[in-house]
Amino acid sequence: MSQRKMEESLQYSKLKDMADEKKLFLEKIIWVHHWTESLFSFRIERPNSFRFRSGEFIMIGLNDNKKPLLRAYSIVSPNWEEHLEFFSIKVPDGPLTSRLQHLKEGDHLFLGKKPTGTLVTDALKSGKRLFMVGTGTGLAPFLSVLRDPETHEKFDEIVLTHTVREEKELAYRSFLEKEIYSDEIFGELLGNRFTYYPTVTRSEFRTEGRITDRIRSGAFAKDLKLTSKKFNPQTDRVMVCGSMAFNKDMSSMLEEHGLKEGSNSTPGSFVIERAFVG
Ligand code: A2P
Repeated sequence: MSQRKMEESLQYSKLKDMADEKKLFLEKIIWVHHWTESLFSFRIERPNSFRFRSGEFIMIGLNDNKKPLLRAYSIVSPNWEEHLEFFSIKVPDGPLTSRLQHLKEGDHLFLGKKPTGTLVTDALKSGKRLFMVGTGTGLAPFLSVLRDPETHEKFDEIVLTHTVREEKELAYRSFLEKEIYSDEIFGELLGNRFTYYPTVTRSEFRTEGRITDRIRSGAFAKDLKLTSKKFNPQTDRVMVCGSMAFNKDMSSMLEEHGLKEGSNSTPGSFVIERAFVG
């Protein structure tokens, strides 16, 4: 065994011992993709026993001075996918993301054992249309929910909105505009039942401005050819994921429209979760 291989193997056993002691999985990174200088995605292998509901989050992290440093991350993958994908910002002085962004294929990450969260279709009453409204990395759980066949059984129409500052931050755009339609399972199913609605706030764009403003002004309803600019508490269900301020604004608006927040124990007409920042 080469010197380097020996060091890697020693390093792995140390991490594995720590993972076992803290009841965590230790999983290999199999793919890393940098969208911009501040956004990236990565995949890790999925342990056989790891089960989750599409839309949930889980703790992931690294060794920091002989202790696991963990943060909550929404799982981008749907619950049937073989690997686990995550979408992250890079915070220059963020204790975890400043290190995560340098990870490469073959490195290892800690993965928690207890996925949880409220951005799940279980926390919503049945309805006709599902709106998933997110900003920044708040897109992550929606990529999971969108690709779960159960979502399509539960709703006739699905709208996914993503608001970012600059157009280049529209991560997963080509997947949502094109590639998803050639997906074996979803291609046909999505057809004209799915709308991807990106908005950009700090540069020129076809659908410019905050999604909250576009909903209030009626521009959103006009673009989607909806009959009302208000959500309908009987038929519309909404999932919200973004910054604290965004979540607050969206929930006030939804409550004004007569929708009620739901949870796992008491399903409602909308659910909210903060987009996690490492
Ligand atoms: P804006 O550029 O007008 O602040 P951030 O990068 O700060 O997390 O924001 C991501 C996106 O979410 C930005 O486009 C930002 O718009 C938008 N945003 C931030 N706060 C709100 C809010 N309270 N309501 C609607 N959109 C928001």
